[in-house]
Amino acid sequence: MIDLLPSARARYTAKAYDPARKIPAPLIAQLREMARLAPSSVNSQPWHFIVAATDAGKARIAKSAHGPYAYNAPKILNASHTFVLCTQHTLTDAHLDAIIEQEARDGRYPDSQTRQIRETMLRGYANMRRQRGDAQPWMERQTYIALGMLLLSAAALEIDATPIEGFDSAMLDLELGLPGQGLNATVLIALGYHAADDINVSLPKSRLPAATLFTDL
Ligand SMILES: Cc1cc2nc3c(=O)[nH]c(=O)nc-3n(C[C@H](O)[C@H](O)[C@H](O)COP(=O)(O)O)c2cc1C
Repeated sequence: MIDLLPSARARYTAKAYDPARKIPAPLIAQLREMARLAPSSVNSQPWHFIVAATDAGKARIAKSAHGPYAYNAPKILNASHTFVLCTQHTLTDAHLDAIIEQEARDGRYPDSQTRQIRETMLRGYANMRRQRGDAQPWMERQTYIALGMLLLSAAALEIDATPIEGFDSAMLDLELGLPGQGLNATVLIALGYHAADDINVSLPKSRLPAATLFTDL
């Protein structure tokens, strides 16, 4: 059995990166696959991941770390890679069709009746979200599951990471042409190896005590 606690305890939010240290390609491939494998409600996968490995790509993302978010720009620029986790801004029938077709290709429907039941469930659930008017925040919550997968995966691979909500999402949407693709930038994750002057590396982790967080029934 794998013990994940040492990784969870060792990980922390990196505040400064060593720009000279790059994540090896096989590890980036693992991280990409971990994002793709993230679970989502009704397998909705309402996300898209933009990966910046080049200085030019990271500079485009860092433009959105301005004003009150300027403290995040060096992390985006000096990290080895910065991922933009995007979410679809509407739940489209075309996307639901793509999910059904993929599940069929992946062999999840042994017969047409199974497919019919699944389609009815997926489309019914999507319609309920649309009618309630909360499809977008619901989809964004799915994207955060991918963020969690990336954070724990990075820790297990001994890669430092910074989840980043401190950026101008409207500006980044325009910079990356996301509205035309039906997407919004939800959250960023910078990934790499911390710099020698990262003040956070030596600080103890702080969490509320388990006794206040869990109720056993
Ligand atoms: C969704 C999310 C958004 C965050 N945004 C930022 C950010 O914009 N800049 C930053 O330096 N840290 C950011 N953090 C890091 C948190 O401050 C950090 O996770 C928290 O203080 C716990 O510390 P630890 O990650 O070192 O265990 C963010 C964390 C999460 C989960």
